[in-house]
Parts: sequence; C-alpha cells; structure tokens
Amino acid sequence: MEEHIERIIWTEDQILERVSELAFEISTDFKEKTTSLVVIGVATGAFMFLSDLVKKIKLPISVDFVRVESYGFGTESSGKPKISSDVKIDINGKHVILVEDIVDTGNTLFCLISHLESKGVCSVSVCTFLDKPARRKVHFEMVGGGKFYRGFECPDYFVVGYGMDFAELYRNLPYVGVLKPELYN
Ligand code: PRP
Ligand code: MN
Ligand code: MG
Repeated sequence: MEEHIERIIWTEDQILERVSELAFEISTDFKEKTTSLVVIGVATGAFMFLSDLVKKIKLPISVDFVRVESYGFGTESSGKPKISSDVKIDINGKHVILVEDIVDTGNTLFCLISHLESKGVCSVSVCTFLDKPARRKVHFEMVGGGKFYRGFECPDYFVVGYGMDFAELYRNLPYVGVLKPELYN
C-alpha cells in the first residue's frame, strides 16, 4: 500500500497530537452544558478520527453514526449526498457534534445539518479532521450557537488514509497522504 502513496502530508504522530488538542477544546466548551452531548460520526470516512477523538473527550457522551455517500468510486462529489443510514439515538433536545474526516464541497454537511436540525436538536457543531475551503461550493451554518472545529486545512490534493478512501481502499493507513496520480487517472 505504501508504494501507492506519493507523499505523506500528516504523520500518525502529528495527527494524534492535533486530535488531542481538538478533544481538549471540545471537553472545555461542553463542560458546563447540562444536556448530554451526542457525537455523531459520518460513516464511513470518519470512523478512525471519531474513535481517536472520543477516547480523549473527558465528558459523558453518547456515540452514534449516520451513513452518507456522495463520492462513490470517483474523486468528484455527485452533489447529491444520500443518507443511507440514520442515527439510532433520540437526539431531540441534545447537543450534537457531527464528526467528519473531510469537508470538501460542503454538500454532505449541508444535507446532514438540516436533517439533524429537523429532529429538534438543541445545537449542532461540526468537528472535521480536514477542511478543504478551496473546494467549497455550498455554505452551511451551525445550529443553536454550535461551533466549527477543524484539525487541519487541507491543500487541494486528493488525499487518502486516516479513514479517507479512493474506491474504498487506503482507509486503514494511519497517516494522510497523496495518492500517486497514475492510480486515479
Ligand atoms: C467523503 C468524506 C465526506 C464527504 C465530503 O465521503 O468522507 O463525508 O465526502 O465531501 P463534500 O464536502 O464534497 O460533501 P464519501 O461520500 O466519499 O463517503 P465515505 O465517507 O464512505 O468515503
Ligand atoms: Mn464521508
Ligand atoms: Mg469516500
């Protein structure tokens, strides 16, 4: 697998250090809240970040998943994300943090935030490992004073690893790298 990677952008150590900082920030921000916090991972991509993040959040939280797909097997967003699996927990009146591996066009979060808002949540925050603002097409807003947390700003390359895939491969790499262009062209 390593031979498919042209260059590493963030190493495993750099990632874990940043994840600890984010977890500390979240723990501090939600310490005084009386209603409980539900951390919702966007499957599949967010599974690894979610798992590292929640281990370091020092608060009683619930964990759930939604499943959304918009990229399928290509490198371009279809623009129409499909929620193929909904949350299990009743989130009415709860503070929610949506956890993503990457925000690109913004289509996925736009769709998910309005979906969660319609369930009567108290607030929606977003915690994304990577943010690629250069590619944003859709503007989205937090709900009920929620915050936007991000690990790193990502340059405009197609990146894989730490949960992120190309055609469902490379998710298990513990670092983030750029795939050799001959593999996706
Ligand atoms: C990827 C990524 C985000 C979304 C971001 O998911 O994990 O969820 O795209 O792109 P956007 O901001 O342009 O909507 P993908 O659809 O590839 O599904 P996956 O998580 O199962 O890989
Ligand atoms: Mn995803
Ligand atoms: Mg994908």
